[in-house]
Amino acid sequence: MAVEYPELAELAATGRVPRHIAVIMDGNGRWAKMRGLPRLSGHKAGSETVRRLLGYCRDAGVDYLTLYAFSTENWGRPPEEVSGLMQLLGNFIADNEKELLAQQIRLRLIGRREDLPAELLGSIERMEAATAGFKRQLLVALSYSGRSELVHAARQIAGQVKSGALDPQEIGESTIAANLYAPDVPDPDLIIRTSGELRVSNFLLWQCAYSEFYVTPVLWPDFDEATFADAIKAYMARNRRYGKV
Ligand code: FPP
Repeated sequence: MAVEYPELAELAATGRVPRHIAVIMDGNGRWAKMRGLPRLSGHKAGSETVRRLLGYCRDAGVDYLTLYAFSTENWGRPPEEVSGLMQLLGNFIADNEKELLAQQIRLRLIGRREDLPAELLGSIERMEAATAGFKRQLLVALSYSGRSELVHAARQIAGQVKSGALDPQEIGESTIAANLYAPDVPDPDLIIRTSGELRVSNFLLWQCAYSEFYVTPVLWPDFDEATFADAIKAYMARNRRYGKV
């Protein structure tokens, strides 16, 4: 496939680009408000950013991209915003189905599947099945929170203990990691948050233990190739020590 973003391809050639990038896509509402538009217009513009981001990740050689699209707390937003977001997510899958297949991207959902509208869940699960063999991955966090993911892991582990398959004395960090939503996915190397907020917001709480953070004041709909390249360069300039010297 032709390179669309040569600067990103140059970064890829260094071999030091993060393998897994996770993004807290914040600022859609503010972007819309600044333009006198309804909040949903901000989310719509934000989903265009997601489409562009797939191209950035392809050219930069990023293997895993995790997007925080809808938190368990987001169910508390006004009903018209919630239903608008669910519709937007369904449209995103429908509009990008061909592109995901052409780019050979494996789509995965992380989050509380049982909370999602049946139609949306069905279309995501069909895409999960159709793309299951691909190596590069797009993980979409929907009705997700780090705490509820840990509750999910605890329930699974309790079930294994109850059935006699697991001895409680053998529970270790790897047991927790093995019972997360996507246990085979490496922890994110870099977590990007837009719109300047300095919070984790219940995102990937277990997995972010040694992630590097990059916060930009740019609002999500305005996030572009240059901002993405800046985040990667900042990551490459850091010295990851994992608690060692
Ligand atoms: C946070 O901005 C953003 C969200 C809660 C939704 C993110 C969703 C999208 C970008 C839509 C499409 C997603 C995919 C994966 C196709 P905010 O509303 O909290 O902004 P604010 O803090 O400025 O109000």
